[in-house]
Amino acid sequence: MKTNLYWIFLFLFTFINCKQESKHKDYAIAIHGGAGAILRKEMSAEKEKEYMSALNNALDIGEKILKEGGTAMKAVEQVIIFLEDNPLFNAGKGAVFTNKGEHELDASIMDGQTAQAGAVGGVRVIKNPIRLARLVMEKSPHVFLIARGAETFGIVNGLDTVSNDWFDTEFRKKTWIKALEAEAKDSLGKLGMKYVNADSKFGTVGCVALDLKGHLAAGTSSGGMTNKRWGRIGDAPIIGAGTYAEDGVAAVSCTGHGEYFIRNVVAYDLIARMKYGTATLAQASHEIIHEKLKSLGGDGGLIAVDHAGNIELCFNSIGMYRGWAKAGKREVKIFK
Ligand code: GLY
Repeated sequence: MKTNLYWIFLFLFTFINCKQESKHKDYAIAIHGGAGAILRKEMSAEKEKEYMSALNNALDIGEKILKEGGTAMKAVEQVIIFLEDNPLFNAGKGAVFTNKGEHELDASIMDGQTAQAGAVGGVRVIKNPIRLARLVMEKSPHVFLIARGAETFGIVNGLDTVSNDWFDTEFRKKTWIKALEAEAKDSLGKLGMKYVNADSKFGTVGCVALDLKGHLAAGTSSGGMTNKRWGRIGDAPIIGAGTYAEDGVAAVSCTGHGEYFIRNVVAYDLIARMKYGTATLAQASHEIIHEKLKSLGGDGGLIAVDHAGNIELCFNSIGMYRGWAKAGKREVKIFK
């Protein structure tokens, strides 16, 4: 009898403990729609409303998935698809123009649970580059595919395609023409460096999420920089620079002047400071964006969520389209 009681007690104890271990954490999600010289005086109340509503709708999509027990990967992918389809942002529809008057899109996604990642650069006809990045991760033995090869891979795997001018918007066209005009007036412009991104606005989109099982994911998608040429690729599709996720540490998505984010391996630098050093998410984000990047002249920001659900939205530019949500809490902002 005594022995039976012992086994019953042991069973109950183990069961309760296991239940506690698999107890759900809270979800957390953060998004950005790009960092840059976003000034309130240059934005109409109507435009501001449009941006705020788009950011809120994006958070609605992500929160619904996470609340219902969906994965961080699903939330990140679906939020970014929404932002890519929205012409307000420099990703997918609404992407900036290259020097030739076309669009070349970059995207990446990383699953913190498996450390798997997928990325694409310079794609022109895939409607949602983030879908292609996920497909590269899940259906190819590779991590990073570019240009025509990446498109062929997407097409044979059934992704939606569009003609390149489907990504056109009047606003981005005007910005590109302004950059061309400025370039034409200046012989230095012939080097093709000075008038890249003449409007000092970026506009990449990104999402990071922590799901109820405690898994992290990050994704980033971008049209890159206005007037870019020579097959220029930014940080958005570079795992470790624009995007990184590692369960137990954090998930990061960056926005800003890509060259600085590539040289400083920003997304992984944040992870490393937390993993190998003693920095908290807030300390690591601040040191990278406000100290290291700023001292080098690198404009931009990042969004990050750590394994405990802490969120950082950090930028050294004038503004950043951004938002975050946790159960019962939400904030969406554009300016400082
Ligand atoms: N951060 C986006 C780019 O530089 O292309």
